[in-house]
This record gives sequence, C-alpha cells and structure tokens, in this order.
Amino acid sequence: MTQRKTILDIQHNISLKKYNTFGIDVKARYFTSVSTTEELLEVLREPAYPDKLILGGGSNILLTGDINALVIHMGIKGISVIREDENHVFVRVGAGENWHEFVLWTLGKGYGGLENLSLIPGNAGTAPIQNIGAYGVELKDVFTACEAVEVSSGNIKEFTLQDCDFGYRDSVFKREAKGKYIITNVTVRLTKNKHSIHTGYGAIRSRLDELGIEHPSIRDVSDAVISIRQSKLPDPEKIGNSGSFFKNPVISTHDFEKLKLQHPEIPSYPVSGSEVKIPAGWLIEQCGFKGKRFGEAGIHAKQALVLVNYGNATGKEIWQLAQDIRKTVREKFGISIEPEVNVL
Ligand code: EPU
Repeated sequence: MTQRKTILDIQHNISLKKYNTFGIDVKARYFTSVSTTEELLEVLREPAYPDKLILGGGSNILLTGDINALVIHMGIKGISVIREDENHVFVRVGAGENWHEFVLWTLGKGYGGLENLSLIPGNAGTAPIQNIGAYGVELKDVFTACEAVEVSSGNIKEFTLQDCDFGYRDSVFKREAKGKYIITNVTVRLTKNKHSIHTGYGAIRSRLDELGIEHPSIRDVSDAVISIRQSKLPDPEKIGNSGSFFKNPVISTHDFEKLKLQHPEIPSYPVSGSEVKIPAGWLIEQCGFKGKRFGEAGIHAKQALVLVNYGNATGKEIWQLAQDIRKTVREKFGISIEPEVNVL
C-alpha cells in the first residue's frame, strides 16, 4: 500500500530559488508538494494555512518578495491516452509533468500537434493559463479540456475549449477564474497520421531550408524549433529568465499608420482588419536596451523581450528594470507594453 501524504509534510522557510526559472532567491513561509488530486484536496482543506499559492514549473512568475503563505508545489504526474479514433488520439497529461518532456513523449509515439511548442519551459498544468504559443501554434489549437479543482469548494470542474476562452497569451484563468482554480490535468487532441505541419513562421522555414529539408516530419519541425529557441533564448538552467517578459502589444491600424510615418521600418503582424501586433522585442531594442546589463539584471543580447538574472538579482531589481523599459517605450513610441509574466 502506498503511504498517503499528510499535512506533516509541510516544510518551513524554504528557498524558492530552484522552483522559479528566474532563479530568484525568496522564501516560502510554508511549503509542500502534492502528487495526486486527493493530496491537493487534503492540503486545501487544511485550515491552519488559510493563504495558499500554487506553484507549477515556475517559468512564468517573477517573485518580488518572500511568500507569507503555504506554497503548494504541483507534482501531479502521468501521461495517458484516454481515447482514440482512426486519425486522432486524445492524450491526458498531469499538471506537474514538464511540458517539453511531454512534447518529446508525444513525438516518440509519432503523434503530431505539439512539435512547434517544443522546448517551452514550465509544466503542462500552466500551459492553458497563458495559452502558451510559439512559431505559429498555440495550445488552443490542440487543447480539448482540462480538469481543475475549485479552491473554495474542493469541487472538480472540467473546462472545455470554449470555457477557457483562449486569446493571445490569455485565458479565463487570467481573468474571471484567476486564483479560483488549480488545474490538475490537461487533454490535447493529436494526430496519428496526416499531420498538419506548420512551417509558416519565417524562422522555421529558413532553418529547414538551411538543412535542405523540403518535406519535414513532425520531428524535423520540433528539431528546427529547438535549435531556433536554443540560438535565441537563454537556457534558464544557466541564466535565470522567464521567456518573454512582455506581451507583444496590439494597437489600432490607425495608430500604427501614424507611427509608421516616424518609424518606417517598424515590424507588425495583422491581428484583424483594425488592429496590428507589434513585436515588443523590436520596441525595446530601438530604445537601446538590448544586451544591456544593470547590476545583476539585464536584457538578453539575442532577444530583447527576455529579461535575465545574471545570478543574484532580486525580483525587485528585475521589476524595476521592467518599469524602466516600459516607461522608455511609452515615451518613445506612445505604446504601453504589459508584462506576460505574473508578478508576485
Ligand atoms: N525583434 C527585434 N529585436 C529583438 C527581438 C525581436 O527587432 O530583440 C523583432 C524582429 O522584427 C523579429 C520579430 O521581433 O522578426 C519577432 O521576433 P521573434 O520571432 O523572436 O518573436 P517574438 O514576437 O519576439 C514571440 C513569443 C515567443 C515565441 C516567439 C516565436 C510573445 C510575447 N513571445 O516572440 O514566446 O517563442 O514569438 O513564436 O508572444 C514566450 O512566451 O516566453 C516566448 C518566448
């Protein structure tokens, strides 16, 4: 019989440095890890710790101070095929599984759909919160449902694709449902054959061309994405970071046309007939921040959208740098850039 975990496993004053990819050294007053939904429910029912914070892969947070609450580390594992038909397979993944290892598992089985989302840091359970996306694909393209525990009642609720109301780096979990639910597993619908290959994103196409691959397999696409990411984005194991720190701002085509008169080379992507998205990395680079270091904090030299911790930065230092960048971008371009990471 497996031993059930009890609240006795709660630890005190634990450093969260290895639990956040920025590598910020703050302390959790109380800390525990859960590996099943039952354990999670047990911890949630525990009245001695009224304030609780769930921590997934720690790849999308900036911790600016000690956490005076019970930090619950999500460790629910497991990958299983729950349904399949001739062409598709529905795979359920535990919230605590590492996202990239999950992607590799699906590729190993020959399932298509997640290859463009290779090497994104973090856990599977946090993927729906910000609708992770890269190289022309977003989680919403393969997502079918997730299960979550309602913190107030302990009830388990299923969220369908529609319920999640995904947008660009956005979902119901960042809005109405924020802080109210803890995602325990996610189900995606993948292809078993007739994979749809997405190589529309310029960088992928040119990487495949360099390699002379004309008809890429899902593994080729994944390999191309991995090599692009490795060439542009810092490895959090070596330099603390949280991927894109800011979201790419969406502005009206009217404002864009005005900006273009002053900055004819400004890049943009159409969002709708009336809106365009501007790469925040370009705005930040134009303000002279790219590759700059301010003490222990800095802006990555190969991608200005990524803030880095050179080793001993505090969350407050990183946040101060983010504020300075936002202010400069606002003054130069009249555009407000918003953080993508959750600042705690
Ligand atoms: N650019 C610059 N300077 C920079 C960075 C970017 O001028 O330092 C301009 C260039 O014009 C470049 C364009 O921005 O062509 C786009 O750059 P990139 O392809 O690197 O994409 P991004 O818009 O900067 C987004 C995501 C990334 C994702 C890539 C690829 C957001 C906030 N970020 O970045 O996501 O990997 O596209 O799809 O949407 C993440 O969320 O953590 C992340 C890394």
